[in-house]
Amino acid sequence: MRSTIFLLIFICLITFSSCKNKEKIFINGNVQFAVQQTDLMLKQTGNPQGKYPRTINKEGILVFTSMYDWTPGFFPGTLWYLYELTGEDHWKAEAVKWTESLEPLKTFTGHHDLGFMMYCSYGNAYRLDPNEKYKEILVESANSLSTRFNPVTRTIKSWNYRKAWNDTIEWFYPVIIDNMMNLEMLFFASKVTGDKKYYDIAVSHANTTIKNHLRSDYSSYHVVDYDTISGTVKCQATCQGYSDNSTWARGQAWGIYGFTMMFRETGDSVYLNVAKKMTDWYLKTPNLPADKVPYWDFNAGQAGYEPEGTSKAKMITEKYRDASAAAVVASALFELGEFTKNEVYLKTAVDMVHTLSSPAYRAILGQSGNFILMHSVGSIPHGAEIDVPLVYADYYFIEALVRYKRMLDK
Ligand code: GLY
Repeated sequence: MRSTIFLLIFICLITFSSCKNKEKIFINGNVQFAVQQTDLMLKQTGNPQGKYPRTINKEGILVFTSMYDWTPGFFPGTLWYLYELTGEDHWKAEAVKWTESLEPLKTFTGHHDLGFMMYCSYGNAYRLDPNEKYKEILVESANSLSTRFNPVTRTIKSWNYRKAWNDTIEWFYPVIIDNMMNLEMLFFASKVTGDKKYYDIAVSHANTTIKNHLRSDYSSYHVVDYDTISGTVKCQATCQGYSDNSTWARGQAWGIYGFTMMFRETGDSVYLNVAKKMTDWYLKTPNLPADKVPYWDFNAGQAGYEPEGTSKAKMITEKYRDASAAAVVASALFELGEFTKNEVYLKTAVDMVHTLSSPAYRAILGQSGNFILMHSVGSIPHGAEIDVPLVYADYYFIEALVRYKRMLDK
């Protein structure tokens, strides 16, 4: 009897360790691919010259953005993750170069995306190579971001005054669900300065987001516009989704990731609960495809979610997938799965990185502008970046691999 039990334990251990080894080989294969593809990307870009890889155009040519758009931090961030995954100095040298080219952004206050821009770049830089210079740049960036906080609305303003996608409705104080992603840099600033003001802004913003961006079923609105005199909500709308009452896939993904991060940084179970509920909504919604890579909007084309205006009618003929949303969710679920010890979340995260690295989503070496993943969507209402590679899809996919590797290495 005793020897049978020992035999069973032995078999379990062997099976577990061979499964673990298989998964480490899977991660290594993806890292090797990312290394080769990113090396080709660097040959294309040369040194940073104030423009940052973002996507490809219809001819398949690499498209850059200026550093003042929301995405310049992702490429440097990916370089830092490749350094972390390989330990090779070459990646560190490139990461440093691309990161340090963003220093002028530390005083930028033009929109809310400074967290994405500086924390994906300098945040990873400081984590892997802590030094005073990077710390000061991050704190200054947190100060710049904090200038957009308004105690009346209890939120950080995402965009300045602008018209909605249809060019008629006006937003004076728009806050988007994406803004949850900018808060991590504020927690960092409180930790390294000992000044709680950044922490308080992040908590205030997150609590207001729970109140006004989430529906009772924990699906999300993309945009909430506020009245700055009374602090009340003027409207709940969309900018990149299908309709005001629909759920834009990447918006839901930002929420899942953002509230998981909020729990990590505060230990407050309210945020853990929100992250779980938003995840459960994502996983249980009937029109999530079996491979868990969502359509760009969960309600596109459905009755009861009709967009207003005419230009939107053009945008829904094909149900495009958004691999970027899936990459964000996969990365978040490695963390949420660990916090909750929920096997379903962890298994989903693992399944999702396998799906994203399959030929259905992973680019072919030397193709797709040398990005890593294909099939993401920037903004269908704006007719921009439809079914293309996107630099942030790659960033969160590689981050998910980093998190998976860490889990297996424990
Ligand atoms: N934060 C902008 C986007 O997700 O497209």
